[in-house]
Amino acid sequence: MTAAVKIGSEAHKELFCRDFVATYTDYDPETLPWPALDEAALERLRTVPFWQEVLHTELRAGAIVKAFTATIEDPVIKEAVALQGFEEARHAALIRTMIRRYGIEVDEHALDPIPADIETAFKDFGFGECVDSFLGFGVFKIALQSGFLPESMFRIFDTLMYEETRHIVFFVNWMAYRQVQRGLGARWIRGLTSLRYYIRALKRLVGTARRGAELQDGKNFSATQASMFLDGFTFRRFIEDCYGENRRRMTAFGDGLLRPSFLPALADMALSSLRLWSFRRRESAGTAP
Ligand SMILES: [Fe+2]
Ligand SMILES: [Fe+2]
Repeated sequence: MTAAVKIGSEAHKELFCRDFVATYTDYDPETLPWPALDEAALERLRTVPFWQEVLHTELRAGAIVKAFTATIEDPVIKEAVALQGFEEARHAALIRTMIRRYGIEVDEHALDPIPADIETAFKDFGFGECVDSFLGFGVFKIALQSGFLPESMFRIFDTLMYEETRHIVFFVNWMAYRQVQRGLGARWIRGLTSLRYYIRALKRLVGTARRGAELQDGKNFSATQASMFLDGFTFRRFIEDCYGENRRRMTAFGDGLLRPSFLPALADMALSSLRLWSFRRRESAGTAP
């Protein structure tokens, strides 16, 4: 067990950077154990409507993190952020390998130019990853349980999920360290700053979902495929899965490191309210005349 370190200290910086580098996994997307898929599974994989968006997000992530790495002076932080950039580029390579291997149709389009304020872009990207990962944990679990694709396929994507979890743990620690270094380390200031970035990330997510819905218009993802996911789906179960999986995945990281806390706290509140609401509903149904 690691002794508690002071957030924003040199020891904290060493801890979150060294931990990040030490938990690196070496693999080549081309030589992963990609499974052979039968026609039905292949069809399901091909009609998932968001592969293009995932590829684009990973390519953009690689470009932003790479550009930000070039601006970092501290060699310890630079090494860790450079590694994250490498991993994001490898995620894009992994998605491309899958696209080629299984004949998925995507239209690759050019990336938007990297914003001039690269540190803000890196922060927006980091908070965006916190939101995407938290929701992704739930989607991943539901998709796995639905048997939408063979388990061997999910094992490959689990590697990617593990890396995204590492990224967000690294990011929230870096963010806190950075704020302390700038004299903005008071808990309430850090909380307000995070809140502002989370709201921006959620707004972007809603925009992306809206654009995605307009583009796809439900054409490709047939009702049968959607029903594989949505059988027994409830909002409460989804939030429970996001919350539970976040908790499980976060146990893989060392003591003394901060973890993203905003969405887990929000989910906890939502679940408590839902429980209370259904308890009251049962109570009032039981006492009704
Ligand atoms: Fe990624
Ligand atoms: Fe990432």
